[in-house]
Amino acid sequence: MSATFTVRRATPQDEAGVSELLLASYPGSMRTAYDQATLEAALPLITRANPALLSSGTYYIAVDDDDLAVGCGGWSRELPGGCEVTPELAHIRHFATHPEWLRRGIGRELYRRCEEDARSFGVRRFECQASLNAEGFYVALGFRAVRRIELRIGPGPMLPCILVERAI
Ligand SMILES: CC(C)(COP(=O)(O)OP(=O)(O)OC[C@H]1O[C@@H](n2cnc3c(N)ncnc32)[C@H](O)[C@@H]1OP(=O)(O)O)[C@@H](O)C(=O)NCCC(=O)NCCS
Repeated sequence: MSATFTVRRATPQDEAGVSELLLASYPGSMRTAYDQATLEAALPLITRANPALLSSGTYYIAVDDDDLAVGCGGWSRELPGGCEVTPELAHIRHFATHPEWLRRGIGRELYRRCEEDARSFGVRRFECQASLNAEGFYVALGFRAVRRIELRIGPGPMLPCILVERAI
């Protein structure tokens, strides 16, 4: 494992690497906040890289010295799962850090990149439909919890999440 990482814009060619990363990250982290039935229904759907994000130009990956994806995350103008756009608002999307790279600043750096780019596009506020286990991370980045929400992401149980927001 290398000691350093760099952040670059993701492309559709990163699909396999990002899916592998999501699969390495989400099951272990989400187990701390969700029951087995919820995870069994949700994980197959949320551990797949999102092709629209990968080709959006506003999704980024952190790679190690061997160009392996060790972190990912980005933002979109559209509401996740829809096409609704609100002026000056953008949505933080699909963040993950590889379990062997946690708490080394990758998430913070990916967020910094999101904020810098989004501001240059006129965005003034971020929202994120965050998994419950990630609330502490977003609070550390300056977000505030708005309310609990339930997301329908497939035929299984609804996924309890927390809506967080911050001005940028
Ligand atoms: C959330 C996640 C992306 C954070 O990635 P990371 O690279 O470890 O984050 P960073 O090292 O940049 O942490 C930045 C700060 O956030 C806070 N933080 C990070 N993880 C935290 C956690 N699990 N609980 C509470 N605070 C946390 C800390 O204050 C940290 O700063 P510090 O280490 O100097 O104290 C990572 O834990 C993860 O992949 N989780 C599983 C996937 C997930 O839930 N993604 C979000 C979907 S909405």
